[in-house]
Amino acid sequence: MRELKITPIKNGTVIDHITSGFALEVLRIIGANNLDKESTVSVALHVRSRRMGWKDIVKVENMELSPQKVNAIALLSPTATISMIQDFKVIEKRPVTLPDHFTGVLKCPNPNCISNQGEPIEPEFDVVHRRPLALRCRYCDRYVDDFLPHLKTR
Ligand SMILES: Nc1ncnc2c1ncn2[C@@H]1O[C@H](COP(=O)(O)OP(=O)(O)OP(=O)(O)O)[C@@H](O)[C@H]1O
Ligand SMILES: [Mg+2]
Ligand SMILES: [Zn+2]
Repeated sequence: MRELKITPIKNGTVIDHITSGFALEVLRIIGANNLDKESTVSVALHVRSRRMGWKDIVKVENMELSPQKVNAIALLSPTATISMIQDFKVIEKRPVTLPDHFTGVLKCPNPNCISNQGEPIEPEFDVVHRRPLALRCRYCDRYVDDFLPHLKTR
């Protein structure tokens, strides 16, 4: 059966194939509580998926995602796909991709790191391992595997 659990949107962004259980983190990343009052945000948790078993979906009207936010979503959920909707049609759909290097997505967990001293520098991380995911701060070399608490939001 076609998915009809969420009302279609005219213009906006669909984040589909989110790892089941991570939609609320995605909402935090995109700053869903700060969007303009005209924009409906629909969330579906634990939706049956042929490809994934279970998945979450987030649909946001009148919003485009910055590259930083797409990267943050890729960190949480490498299976996610991002679709742009215009006039009720999908004009672009792409899977998220995990880059080798992140700028401004995570805060370094090391309180002594130069990136946490109020200097005008964006935190930068290299992906040192993909499965499981491990990142390393370019400034202090601290490894981060438990990155959820350190994701920056808007
Ligand atoms: N007007 C719309 N409003 C809200 N969501 C939409 C709209 N049109 C498409 N979508 C959603 O955008 C995503 C991509 O659309 P598409 O038609 O390519 O989906 P699909 O055929 O289910 O493909 P797949 O699941 O393989 O990515 C899906 O999650 C779909 O539900
Ligand atoms: Mg589908
Ligand atoms: Zn650091």
